[in-house]
Amino acid sequence: MPRSIALVACITLFTLSSCTTIQVAPTANLAADKPTVLITGSNRGIGLEFVKQFSERGWNIIATARKPEEAADLQAIADNYDRLAIEQLDVTDFDRVKELQTVYQDQPIDILLSNAGITPKYKSAFKKVSGVDWDMARKSIDVNAIAPLQIAHIFMGNVAASDQKKIVVISSKGGSFAVGPEMPMMYSYRASKAALNMYMYTLSFETPKKDVILTLLSPGQVNTVPGMKLPNAIETDESVSKMLAVIDNLTPQHNGKFLDYEDGSEIGW
Ligand SMILES: NC(=O)c1ccc[n+]([C@@H]2O[C@H](COP(=O)([O-])OP(=O)(O)OC[C@H]3O[C@@H](n4cnc5c(N)ncnc54)[C@H](OP(=O)(O)O)[C@@H]3O)[C@@H](O)[C@H]2O)c1
Repeated sequence: MPRSIALVACITLFTLSSCTTIQVAPTANLAADKPTVLITGSNRGIGLEFVKQFSERGWNIIATARKPEEAADLQAIADNYDRLAIEQLDVTDFDRVKELQTVYQDQPIDILLSNAGITPKYKSAFKKVSGVDWDMARKSIDVNAIAPLQIAHIFMGNVAASDQKKIVVISSKGGSFAVGPEMPMMYSYRASKAALNMYMYTLSFETPKKDVILTLLSPGQVNTVPGMKLPNAIETDESVSKMLAVIDNLTPQHNGKFLDYEDGSEIGW
């Protein structure tokens, strides 16, 4: 069986035509004796770096992306790493979430890592209320808050069946009343992350019955926009390696907490 199958994507614009061959990984060889992580939004940014670092640890990885056929960096990892399954998922497509759970119904998932999110573009981040894009406001709640709750709910049994039993959700200090910026900015993003925090805080009263640890993490301010380096921001490798150290040390006392990537210290809501 070939390691990958080739898809041919052709774009035709008037008389201009170009074809690109993209390698798409088939179902991977997940090993029964290795722990498993499922990561959403894994084609770029922090999600992609999580895939890299979990592959270096030899884990089974189920990496989801909205458009796997365009996820060249993810495919490049899969070309050299057997235990990486790439799955199509728009996190707001609940039918697909359920379908994916059915595909992996017998697969314990040690860490369910909800990373996918809509982040504000730098230029629009400082817009006042008159600049709020209301469609984006609704979409941000769907993607950043409701979808992670649905995914946690649907995959809860897989996590409960694993050894580590951890659900890790990437949030943001921007969604915190305690430490968020005291100025009018990122209305939709901040509200969606605050809603995410409350959804997960509420769910954390259900998880102990299943011995599952549910924790929110702030990744810090991370450079994930290609070609843009923000002052005081860190790179994805630093953010993810520090988050992994925090994740490694999670215990039941961290259930329902919001923690900082740097040292695992608790962040106020
Ligand atoms: N970077 C920071 O400074 C920072 C700070 C605090 C919190 N965070 C959080 O960290 C997480 C990752 O951030 P990032 O900086 O790596 O973001 P990013 O580079 O913008 O990547 C976002 C990822 O989410 C995916 N995504 C967006 N909408 C989706 C949907 N409907 N279904 C499935 N996937 C979807 C994107 O897929 P496509 O490529 O298909 O769009 C992409 O893979 C987010 O939750 C973000 O809010 C980031």
